[in-house]
Amino acid sequence: MNRKADGMTEKNKDVEKILFTEEQIQEKVKEIGRRITEDYKDGNLLIVGIMKGAGIFMYDLIRQIRRPVRTDYMVLSSYGKSSVSSGTVTIKRNLDYDISGYHIILVEDIVDTGNTMAFLKEYLSSRGALSVKICSMLDKPARRIKPVVIDYCGFEVEDEFIVGYGCDYAEQYRYLPYFGILKKEIYLKD
Ligand code: PRP
Repeated sequence: MNRKADGMTEKNKDVEKILFTEEQIQEKVKEIGRRITEDYKDGNLLIVGIMKGAGIFMYDLIRQIRRPVRTDYMVLSSYGKSSVSSGTVTIKRNLDYDISGYHIILVEDIVDTGNTMAFLKEYLSSRGALSVKICSMLDKPARRIKPVVIDYCGFEVEDEFIVGYGCDYAEQYRYLPYFGILKKEIYLKD
């Protein structure tokens, strides 16, 4: 089916405004892939996606990194169905590998309060990773509680509720190929 005809590239009715289009996102993924390829010429590189949000970005990104990588994923949660972070990070699924001897890049869809990334950097360093860097498609600095350095950042965004390209609201909208601002009436009614 034609993607325009099935509404994939057109704005979803619950989306107020498209912030970054599919084309802009894919261009940014290529640019980050190039930077990572340049920065990691040697050594073992493990790309760790923080699910579920990072899934789409992670699998796009590894195809733009022109060197061998291993991949793994963790499932964490601090939001649940709420739109406000609980502040407590819970590991629901841990890594398969012994990470000693690996350089790790954590891949996220968004860094918001910074709780998730601050927790993971410390946790993975204590498990023996050679280095831990952070790659996030979105950065929302207005909501930061824990200071976090984002080594590879796609776009900085304002304090709006963003959905698409992995970002959800109550498990919806992750599939949208663009980033959009969710209409207030959608999340305020819950
Ligand atoms: C979201 C997002 C990040 C985290 C960022 O995950 O994917 O992992 O919140 O927020 P923070 O900087 O305030 O910690 P969420 O817990 O909603 O789970 P999900 O990935 O399944 O959407």
